[in-house]
Amino acid sequence: MSVPKNQAAWLTKAGRPLEVGEAPMPTAGPGEIVVKNAAVAINPLDCHMLDVGVFVKQWPSIFGCDVAGEVYEVGPGEKKFKKGDRVIGHTVNLVSGRPQDGGYALYTVVQSAKAAILPGHISYTDGVVVPFALEGAVCALSLKVPGVALPGVATPALALPYPSLQVPAPDAGKAVVVYGGSSSIGSMVTQVAHAAGITVIAIAGARNLQFSKDCGATEVFDYKDAQLVQKVVQSVRSSGKEFVGIFDAIATEETFPHDKAILAELGGGHLACSHPPPTDVAENVTAGMIFAVNDIATPVWADFVTPALEAGQLKCLPPPTIVGKGLEFVQTALEKSKAGVSATKLVVEL
Ligand SMILES: NC(=O)c1ccc[n+]([C@@H]2O[C@H](COP(=O)([O-])OP(=O)(O)OC[C@H]3O[C@@H](n4cnc5c(N)ncnc54)[C@H](OP(=O)(O)O)[C@@H]3O)[C@@H](O)[C@H]2O)c1
Repeated sequence: MSVPKNQAAWLTKAGRPLEVGEAPMPTAGPGEIVVKNAAVAINPLDCHMLDVGVFVKQWPSIFGCDVAGEVYEVGPGEKKFKKGDRVIGHTVNLVSGRPQDGGYALYTVVQSAKAAILPGHISYTDGVVVPFALEGAVCALSLKVPGVALPGVATPALALPYPSLQVPAPDAGKAVVVYGGSSSIGSMVTQVAHAAGITVIAIAGARNLQFSKDCGATEVFDYKDAQLVQKVVQSVRSSGKEFVGIFDAIATEETFPHDKAILAELGGGHLACSHPPPTDVAENVTAGMIFAVNDIATPVWADFVTPALEAGQLKCLPPPTIVGKGLEFVQTALEKSKAGVSATKLVVEL
């Protein structure tokens, strides 16, 4: 039987367009599978990797965090997956630096603990929007002890329960605010929190209020609303739930003053950000930054993702926008991502 050839979209130098070319065929070690990718998704982080080489540990590099496809090979002793299974997976090039762990290739190594069977009725292009955002969402909500996101920047530790397969989920009696409810990570935090029985009050763009509700938010407010802080505070108070804090998916100079004002009104709490948090928070605020490669998500990958997708409890949101077919389209998709998206995830079919 002939061995298939691998190809990848290589980053040869920061700031240069990706170059599609041959790549070594990866093999699966213990705890790993090799996925023959049918779809890959773009995350904003990838644009920084492209432009400035952030997190690149080895040149030339293959990056990309989200893959969906068929299991091509399983590592020694693998029990969870077999060749031919349809899967989605979160790849770990970000931390390992190994080119074979990057998603923008025809074949990629995925840790079995960061993969799940994709139910037959869900397309690869839909399923691929889930992995990176899912792991980031669990990191945002369920870490019990702060870890290290970046040197000198701690991860948040909201210690909230994992999502449950029970519908409706048992009421956790708690409320969180999700700032950026229509973003990829914000909408996934909303979904995961909702499935954990946590009340979500979200902040999103005017045209995406219903989208955020579809992800499980109880109330959603327009981030341009002049009364935003007062409305969010009122909504949290009238929920009757214990306020835990804010997940800020946007985490910019525009959102921080609102975060701080909401936290001040509600007596403090956690401020979990997608980027380094502000350094001048009040004493009653615990601020941190998520790092979306985190083993805290392992039980969720193992026990929740597949049955929740099967039941429609976990939805493939935001919906994909398919940019093209073939590795050549990864560069196009990265350029589109830089221009900004609204309630969608850019996806390339392979
Ligand atoms: N630290 C980590 O591990 C980690 C993990 C994942 C993501 N991130 C970072 O988190 C950020 C979001 O990532 P993503 O993939 O979720 O991005 P995304 O889906 O590309 O974000 C686009 C969304 O941002 C929303 N948005 C823009 N400005 C906003 C504002 N002022 N208030 C509220 N919403 C606003 C837009 O909302 P409307 O269209 O409704 O206006 C749009 O839907 C990125 O900077 C990314 O690098 C970090």
